[in-house]
Amino acid sequence: MKSLLFVFALFARLLDADAIALYLTWYTDPSTTMAIQWHTPLSEKSDAIEIQALAGNWRKAKGSHLELGDRVVHKLFLDHLMPDTEYSFRLEDDPAIYKFRTAPKTLNGPLRFCIGGDIYQTPDLFRKMCRVVSAKDPLFVVLGGDIAYAVNSNPFRFRSMARNRWFSFLQEWKEEMISPEGQVIPFLIVPGNHDISPDDSELFFDLFAFPEKQLYRAIDFGDYLSLILLDSDIYEPIEGKQTEWLKQALQTRSQFPFKFAVYHIAAYPSVYSYTGKIPEKIRSNWCPLFDKYNLSAAFENHNHAYKRTFPIRGNQVVESGVIYLGDGCWGAIPRNTKKAWYLAKEARKNNAYMIELRQDSAKIDAVGLHGERIDSLEIPGIKIRS
Ligand SMILES: [Fe+2]
Repeated sequence: MKSLLFVFALFARLLDADAIALYLTWYTDPSTTMAIQWHTPLSEKSDAIEIQALAGNWRKAKGSHLELGDRVVHKLFLDHLMPDTEYSFRLEDDPAIYKFRTAPKTLNGPLRFCIGGDIYQTPDLFRKMCRVVSAKDPLFVVLGGDIAYAVNSNPFRFRSMARNRWFSFLQEWKEEMISPEGQVIPFLIVPGNHDISPDDSELFFDLFAFPEKQLYRAIDFGDYLSLILLDSDIYEPIEGKQTEWLKQALQTRSQFPFKFAVYHIAAYPSVYSYTGKIPEKIRSNWCPLFDKYNLSAAFENHNHAYKRTFPIRGNQVVESGVIYLGDGCWGAIPRNTKKAWYLAKEARKNNAYMIELRQDSAKIDAVGLHGERIDSLEIPGIKIRS
């Protein structure tokens, strides 16, 4: 009996030792950096990890932490990493070995990644889509907003409910998006209206190690791919400072073969109103810049449906225009779509986009909850388009 109790206690300790949540994100250069964030019970405050490149020596690294509710949130920023390299790491209080891969600096083979939005509204749908996405082994995922559905306009909602919503999303992300071999799929965050607001931002910045309180940014993969991650009036306004920044960002990247924009609220919605205030602001401030600097495609969300627009330039259907894809339905209940002059395809379907980037074109597949292909298109890189 005594030995049984001992085995039980040991087992309980091992279970307890696992980090409750572990998520990897990129805020800057994806080929040389990685931000590791993890949660532990209040009793485990060590911010130390050991990291190893390929089969080299293990070296120590140390981050920082803060206490949040029933747990400790640890953040650690790694830089000077080698591009296109697999790293292994272990946390001090967790027996598991985890792995990640840095992005390549030059595009030699195909680069596979995923874009999807409106993630954890319905956990059952979320899990199904996670399984479809992780089976395709993407290098990373872009989360296009409304991630955990933590921010809610209900005035009677407790602050702890928002926190618990994030905690439960992050815990399930760890369960679904880390392979049995310990390979972690990093994510890049784009803000949605249920993630953060100008007067409710503390929790968001406690959980994610953004180097500054500005959410719009460009993430460059060498000089072959730029992800333009925008803030669609969620934390900062569309017009003014952000649009000025966008102009500069697109101008300086005009020679990149691939430039994809990702943001939450849609300029060309498949469910919501076309004349909404935010869609109109995006169409008047950002879309002319997308046209001018030959954006490869825009990924929109928030509508909870599937859509592909016709190519659009100057707010008209033009063969050489920009295609807007979306419409944010990773783990949300899909909605009925409408017909509109700009919609080439629309469907009441859960979806995520798998992108395979090759030297001269990007192959984009929209996949559904059962792994079925909903749509497929190929977008040429800018050098061969001009
Ligand atoms: Fe939304």
